[in-house]
Amino acid sequence: MQATPTAATAHASGPLSGRIRVPGDKSISHRALMFASLAIGRSTVRGLLTAEDVMATGNAMRALGASIAGGEVVTIDGAGLGLLKEPDAPLDFGNAGTGARLTMGIVAGHPVAATFVGDASLSKRPMGRVLNPLREMGVTVVAREGDRVPLSLRGPKTLAPIEYTLPVASAQVKSAVLMAGLNAPGETTVIEPVATRDHTERMLKAFGADIRIAESPEGRRITVTGQTPLKPCDITVPADPSSAAFALVAALIVPGSDVTVRDVLLNPSRTGLIETLKEMGADLEIIDSREDGGETIGDVRVRATRLKGITVPAERAPSMIDEYPVLAVAAAFADGATHMPGLGELRVKESDRLAAVSAGLTANGVAHESGPDWLSVHGRTGPVGGGKVVTHLDHRIAMSFLIMGLAADKPVTVDDHNVIATSFPGFMGLMEGLGADIRVEA
Ligand code: S3P
Repeated sequence: MQATPTAATAHASGPLSGRIRVPGDKSISHRALMFASLAIGRSTVRGLLTAEDVMATGNAMRALGASIAGGEVVTIDGAGLGLLKEPDAPLDFGNAGTGARLTMGIVAGHPVAATFVGDASLSKRPMGRVLNPLREMGVTVVAREGDRVPLSLRGPKTLAPIEYTLPVASAQVKSAVLMAGLNAPGETTVIEPVATRDHTERMLKAFGADIRIAESPEGRRITVTGQTPLKPCDITVPADPSSAAFALVAALIVPGSDVTVRDVLLNPSRTGLIETLKEMGADLEIIDSREDGGETIGDVRVRATRLKGITVPAERAPSMIDEYPVLAVAAAFADGATHMPGLGELRVKESDRLAAVSAGLTANGVAHESGPDWLSVHGRTGPVGGGKVVTHLDHRIAMSFLIMGLAADKPVTVDDHNVIATSFPGFMGLMEGLGADIRVEA
């Protein structure tokens, strides 16, 4: 799916200014396609993210029996819960961990077999965290060493409902178990000791699932009563806060900038970066915060600010887990040290993000230290830039270091900008429209 790796270089840029809308939220886009495919009848989705990751999920849902037609408004005719068909060929998820893991939950709930494949990055990522609870529910798995893709799953005739306490703070694991539970007779419960993004719960309610959420001393208990048919739904996807993060940090670190990102999803399980930037002193305001389709959205305006280093509470990590690479870039331009504990999960993202960020900081002369699950960045200790960053098939590493180059003393090069297409088509154009000087290698 991915094009040949092509380098790009970001140069120091004049003040960035403008109002932009970044593409639709990736987590919500995957789920909208999945739940609509499990409903009986026609759903519509406005503002779907049309990036490679989400397209892979769309193709998988088609292979499982849904009809999906594109356009400004995407229409999905669901195959119906319990009625998915066995795919004829392996399901190729490319770079998409969310697509692959949640679809494993869906397949588990059906008496069909499916093979999951992906790119070199996805083939390194741990799938055991999802496969283990699915095995408890009765699913048969044949997987590579260490539970990696390529792997094949076969759902049993009747799935056993389970009660499962998440051993890692992962919305993907929570969602995969709930997806399977949708077609298990009886109640499937996931207990999350640490809250993670709750788009699955919100959207399941909208699609008419029988779902209950209760707080308990062990954490949040989410229970679905299986075999309740899903009804179609019309969804509008808000702008992705994890994509907005790049423009927001760019505006903060490029002197004189003033940028507004419109319609950003402000679900509290996703706003950790905004909170953190405010604590660092960012001139950041939320304008016109409003409710839309069961989610809070708003316009986020930032003006360039000289940030100060802080310690980011470890318990905030789940609400900003994808934003640490770009936070590390912001920290490189802050006064003092920014300490980021609780980052163990960064080791198993599209790349080992702790290692990739650390290598990128080193290549660009930014003083920092890191450990197994933490990073401390020392801002403004010397000139920044001049390095070439290895992206390891990781879109967020590519975008984060291009943002660094816009405020650096010397240009910053990333070895591959094509990976950005997995989550943020149009990144280059939007950033250029704000005044960013990013040049793609001929
Ligand atoms: C996601 C959950 C997070 C996040 C990923 C999207 C989701 O992963 O990093 O980009 O949509 O559920 P984990 O569940 O592994 O924390």
